[in-house]
Amino acid sequence: MIYQGNSGNWHCKIEFQKIPSIINFVESIPNRFIIFDKNVKLLYFNDYQSVNTFTLESSEQNKSFESYEKIISELVNCKIDRNVTIIAIGGGVVCDLAGFVASTYKRGTNLIFVPTTLLAMADAAIGGKNAVNINHVKNLVGTFRMPDRILISTEFLKTLEDDELINGMAEVIKISLVYDSFLFNELEKLLNLGQNISYKTNYLKDIIRQAIELKMNIVEQDYKDNGIRNILNFGHTVGHSIEAGYGISHGRSVAYGMKAAAYMSLEYKLITLDTYENIINILTNFGFILDFEFDSEILMNFILNDKKKKSGHIKEILLKDIGKYEFRNISITDYRKFLNDLC
Ligand SMILES: NC(=O)c1ccc[n+]([C@@H]2O[C@H](COP(=O)([O-])OP(=O)(O)OC[C@H]3O[C@@H](n4cnc5c(N)ncnc54)[C@H](O)[C@@H]3O)[C@@H](O)[C@H]2O)c1
Repeated sequence: MIYQGNSGNWHCKIEFQKIPSIINFVESIPNRFIIFDKNVKLLYFNDYQSVNTFTLESSEQNKSFESYEKIISELVNCKIDRNVTIIAIGGGVVCDLAGFVASTYKRGTNLIFVPTTLLAMADAAIGGKNAVNINHVKNLVGTFRMPDRILISTEFLKTLEDDELINGMAEVIKISLVYDSFLFNELEKLLNLGQNISYKTNYLKDIIRQAIELKMNIVEQDYKDNGIRNILNFGHTVGHSIEAGYGISHGRSVAYGMKAAAYMSLEYKLITLDTYENIINILTNFGFILDFEFDSEILMNFILNDKKKKSGHIKEILLKDIGKYEFRNISITDYRKFLNDLC
């Protein structure tokens, strides 16, 4: 699959391959610098010569300016020039950091992503956004830099912890809800195959491919995130407040955020009760817990400090149906009431 920006300012080739061919391809690039996730390196690249590499212990704390500086120092130590290809092999943390390095080192280098988590394959590695966290503020500094190539092997998912698989699935369900009822139906079919099958990697490949096509379709229309790309934040207003307020993982928080946005859509009579229940079922059946008890005022405080608050209302992405979104400005009074109903 080859994608490109409408003014020709970027292009990106995305391919599914087996791990050995990915390794062969990487080794065929003479001028390369690899940024590895530590666990992935241990599991899959233990014998790999550690020349021109940097290994990162992935975490939000390490998606930092300090890690960025260490990588830049290593590039300088290794006398790496601007014709280098930076290759990220890891999850969203490694891809975000590597993207930022590649877009800034010597004003820009080549960039390849080898995403190894479900979240990175279906979302984080896709679309050309990168960032680092500064002073505990997530994604405060970053750039748009589309990778030249993304090489995906779902074989990597065999070693991913269940919780990380579930995390990644939240973003897949999200894009189906706002943009594509066909993918939503495919996800339902996958669940119908049986509980232990839904996360089997051979079934996931097709799901990931569809999620990528949908995201890239949106990104091709709105690379710099000034319009439709905003729908990818579906469920994220409430989700971020839960993540920040209660330290629950991103995917699980966003899943609850999607429940909240679906509830608001139901209250505004944009969707039927049947549709609402379908959404709750798919989330629950993929392993998300949706009956947490939150303090709605704690969530409101986070939301009101968030960038989405605009003079007296909160801009929210709601659903008109599965696969159809609507932007709506919700008064703070209504928003508070909805959260009270849910918590
Ligand atoms: N740039 C974007 O558009 C975008 C979109 C969504 C999320 N993100 C970012 O992505 C990051 C989260 O990414 P993530 O969920 O991939 O987390 P992550 O990169 O921290 O990886 C999660 C864990 O999985 C381990 N791991 C990775 N691959 C593995 C494998 N194949 N087998 C076993 N273990 C493996 C890692 O070592 C880590 O412990 C966040 O920082 C988020 O902000 C970016």
